[in-house]
Amino acid sequence: MLNPRLDLLTDYPFQRLAALLQAPPGGEPLVMSIGEPQHRPPSFVPEILAANAAGWGKYPPMAGTPDFRQAAGGWLCRRFGLAEAAFDPDTQLLPLAGTREGLYQIAQLVIAQAAPGAPPPVVLLPNPFYQVYAGAALLAGAEPVFVPATAETGFLPDFSALPEPVLNRAALAYLCTPANPQGAVAGLARLQEAIRLARRHDFVLAVDECYSEIYDGEAPAGALEACQSLGGGFDRVVVFHSLSKRSSAPGLRSGFVAGDAALIAPFARLRAYGGAAVPMPILAASAALWRDEDHVAVNRAEYRRKIDAAERIFAGRFGFYRPEGGFFLWLDVGDGETAARRLWDRAGIRVLPGAYLARPGADGVNPGRRYIRVALVHDLPSVETALTRMAEVLEA
Ligand SMILES: Cc1ncc(COP(=O)(O)O)c(C=O)c1O
Repeated sequence: MLNPRLDLLTDYPFQRLAALLQAPPGGEPLVMSIGEPQHRPPSFVPEILAANAAGWGKYPPMAGTPDFRQAAGGWLCRRFGLAEAAFDPDTQLLPLAGTREGLYQIAQLVIAQAAPGAPPPVVLLPNPFYQVYAGAALLAGAEPVFVPATAETGFLPDFSALPEPVLNRAALAYLCTPANPQGAVAGLARLQEAIRLARRHDFVLAVDECYSEIYDGEAPAGALEACQSLGGGFDRVVVFHSLSKRSSAPGLRSGFVAGDAALIAPFARLRAYGGAAVPMPILAASAALWRDEDHVAVNRAEYRRKIDAAERIFAGRFGFYRPEGGFFLWLDVGDGETAARRLWDRAGIRVLPGAYLARPGADGVNPGRRYIRVALVHDLPSVETALTRMAEVLEA
């Protein structure tokens, strides 16, 4: 009765965490396991939603409004230095109800059914990784190939190190930069290399840039910027952006996909059947958010202060490093599951064992097993108190 491929999706991290942490917490519970931003979106958001309330009574167009496309496309061009003449938001950009569904749907879009007797297409993904990539690959009937993104590889996957036959079977590669959970950023050269590889082996490169605005030092490069620097169009490349992290609006469900027009057009066709169109009031609020950088700078500064606090507390311990982007600490605690249980039992602090975000590699070793992922999403005083307590529990 059910699609048997669903049996492949048995280990969603938060279900595993619920099973691991069944005991009552040993203190006032603080959830640092989920990357749900707790900063406030700007006050103009509810105002615009209210002013556009008549739009709740309309079916929104799947392609969004011209105003939304111009606002999001304008931001993309400003942020990544794209030549406006080379970017057409009407054919190269599509709104999404958050990037999650788009990241899922891109696999539906590009994975063809294997010919009888032929091996299934391959989807390349970093390991550890955002779980939707693997779910999307498996449900589309592809074979996920987990590419190490460990301390040894600079916490990013090196797709070019894969054997030629694997690359030749690849239909899609997911790259996350800044990376969840490790916070590593792929620079322009690395992005260029991934783009060249995708074009040489004829696969689609889906670059998840939803953390691009939460960074510590310089603004991370983007994959469309890398395409431009290679001197051509966006052939085989799409990027995913979201207001969930940039504008602390995860409940708004608003993002977009942009890039190769040859992918965006069929993406719109696919979404006409199975996508959630972004409602008109949300499109209006989203357009205003993409046009405003002030709240983004405030948001980023707040995360920096929390990373500063984390550095004061953890420097020199548990493999602490300042993440280049995103808002997670990726701490080497020896055994992530044991540490997560201890933090919950003794301090009521909920963190995610790194193993739940990864799969065992070719050597049988889960590259996340030594780590915990700590989401710095609460206010600074709460985070500071929790991290201080966390260090005490982990050292004990
Ligand atoms: C790496 C990564 N990609 C995508 C998403 C999805 O975000 P949204 O659907 O809110 O845009 C998340 C959310 O946590 C994430 O961590």
